[in-house]
Amino acid sequence: MSGGLREVPVDQLMPLEAAIEADDLAAEIAGHDIAYHQHDAPTVSDADYDARRRRLEAIEARFPELARPARVGAPPAAGFSKVTHARPMLSLGNAFEAADVEEFLARIRRFLGLAEDQPVAIVAEPKIDGVSVSLRYQRGRFVHGATRGDGAVGEDVTGNLKTLAEVPQRLAGKAPEILEVRGEVYMTRDDFKALNERQEAAGDKVFANPRNAAAGSLRQLDSEVTARRPLSLFAYAQGETAPSGNHWEFLRRLQDWGFRVSPLIRPCANLEEMLRFHNRLAADRSNLPYDIDGVVYKVDRLDWQERLGQVSRAPRWAVAHKFPAERARTRIVDIRIQVGRTGALTPVAALQPVTVGGVVVSSATLHNEDEIARKDVRIGDTVVIQRAGDVIPQVVSVVADKRPADSRPFAFPDRCPECGSLAVREEGEAARRCSGGLVCPAQAVERLRHFVSRHAFDLEGLGARNIEAFHRDGLIATPADIFRLPERTAEIREREGWGDKSADNLIAAIAERGTISLERFIYALGIRQVGQATARLLAKQYLSLDGWRRATAAAGEAESEAYRELVDIDGIGPSVAADLVAFFAEPHNREVLDDLEGLLTVEDFRAPDASTSPIAGRTVVFTGALETMSRNEAKARAESLGAKVAGSVSSKTDYVVAGADAGAKARKAAELGIVTLSEREWLALIEAPET
Ligand code: IVH
Repeated sequence: MSGGLREVPVDQLMPLEAAIEADDLAAEIAGHDIAYHQHDAPTVSDADYDARRRRLEAIEARFPELARPARVGAPPAAGFSKVTHARPMLSLGNAFEAADVEEFLARIRRFLGLAEDQPVAIVAEPKIDGVSVSLRYQRGRFVHGATRGDGAVGEDVTGNLKTLAEVPQRLAGKAPEILEVRGEVYMTRDDFKALNERQEAAGDKVFANPRNAAAGSLRQLDSEVTARRPLSLFAYAQGETAPSGNHWEFLRRLQDWGFRVSPLIRPCANLEEMLRFHNRLAADRSNLPYDIDGVVYKVDRLDWQERLGQVSRAPRWAVAHKFPAERARTRIVDIRIQVGRTGALTPVAALQPVTVGGVVVSSATLHNEDEIARKDVRIGDTVVIQRAGDVIPQVVSVVADKRPADSRPFAFPDRCPECGSLAVREEGEAARRCSGGLVCPAQAVERLRHFVSRHAFDLEGLGARNIEAFHRDGLIATPADIFRLPERTAEIREREGWGDKSADNLIAAIAERGTISLERFIYALGIRQVGQATARLLAKQYLSLDGWRRATAAAGEAESEAYRELVDIDGIGPSVAADLVAFFAEPHNREVLDDLEGLLTVEDFRAPDASTSPIAGRTVVFTGALETMSRNEAKARAESLGAKVAGSVSSKTDYVVAGADAGAKARKAAELGIVTLSEREWLALIEAPET
């Protein structure tokens, strides 16, 4: 979503728009969560991630029926067995300003019904930038250790945690029957640097920062690898333990049992003391041997913590007071254009390396064309850069009086640096995009994957992994190459993981797909904004591949009859039209189409006979998140087969299609005895007449 159209304020969203956006945001966030938690390779800045999350929360607050169960982080990855936390491992709400901290205290008082002058004892702790873990002890023995996972279910990393010197195997002194301790596994900056040097020397993966290194080291399938990694642990909270006394005393007991507790932790009696603690740590953070990204304030009384409870994924009794971003000055030596997997051109400043908060930074994102113009960033400029616990440092501003006399404004390229295709920028779009989707090496793998995906060519034998490998090894560069694979059967048979049978199956599947419906074909091309529903509309309108190609080429002439016909299709507006026209304007794309046409038979559109479709005249309700298509695609599809799509379940409903996390509507359907289909069953039902 980011970098796309301007956002509509949440209070102006219509219910359907809200539902679609909430779906998209949830999927996007889930993707980022997986990148961050499972692959230890974040794909967005923390600030962007937080913004996405806040927007989803705002939408869900306005449309409560869209709310999905709270998740923290990502579901556990395959490879580790799963552990259900006795108590969920929560995340923390954020405070950025003193006023947010004041509001945190005020809310606690309101919730507990305390007078304004009644003291609330707080414990202030450094927020360690590592990976949280839960350690379970039975009769004083360490029995289980888990990562946070999605907050409810984590990964069993007991064996790995046993290799940490700072995880006591046996508790010292008198231990309760059951004790669950929560803490942060982290890596010091020195250890991180040394590890990266070793990794680099050995030709292994180097980590972006100490947090990723800690996460990656803890999540090794082989404990011996973890054992060689320099991991540390600070304990800071209890999991499943009866609440008695206060947090401060609990921290003491943690020490008595043999845990390391941060020596920086302090009790605070009021707001002033809390803010003073925050200021001091903010000033000292770069002198600490490990990264911290803020302060955590916790209500000291455990019985109050219990009463305060939690809102969605964060406790009311604690908050993270983040540090302002760390900044530094340096010079831009070059501005380079990176082409993302979806074709967006992103300008990146190559910097004279500089240390920001203990990390050497040598490049920073400039976001997009407008940002460069707005800040008037030029090659040779001295700039202020910032890193806010971010993976991607940003250029904040230009130091005007340091600008070289001969500098010139940066001219943003209108050609893709990867493939030379025209890079187009549409109205309302922040990003300029390469229009050579089918030939651009930066986008090739993504496009090819889409091309063979289930609702496109549906070539099961060519999964994402094979696509990547075949592309890397030069077996396929463009979609048409897929249909030339039969010529290379011998080579495929020889490949690792392949044999005669699997190669033959693949070739047979490819042969079978030599004939394809027009709508699937159009969808497979992966033209921006042309999803299944739009592809279908186009097929229905233009009937044949030739008709569609000719009409769209003619629509390139503004004001033409063909253009009018295109934008007159209900469901296609100027923005989709612009993407279609841009696709055909690019000669590379036309070549690929010619190539494909020579190898395939694309069937003319045959209108499904709505009267014989199994759902003709039926009323369908969709609920929950669908995996294979968006809600409005599903709706368009159902309607085109003669069904009516309703928003709520009633006795008139014939089918309820329940996606993931379906809630009230699915329950109601069950009560009314209405047929409830899974997404898969639904697809089987509607796809039956096509095959
Ligand atoms: S308390 C419900 N204390 O920050 C309380 N968390 O953003 C949650 N963290 O998942 C844990 N230092 O990984 C707590 N002193 C500290 C912490 C801390 C770092 C992490 C922890 C948590 C995340 C929330």
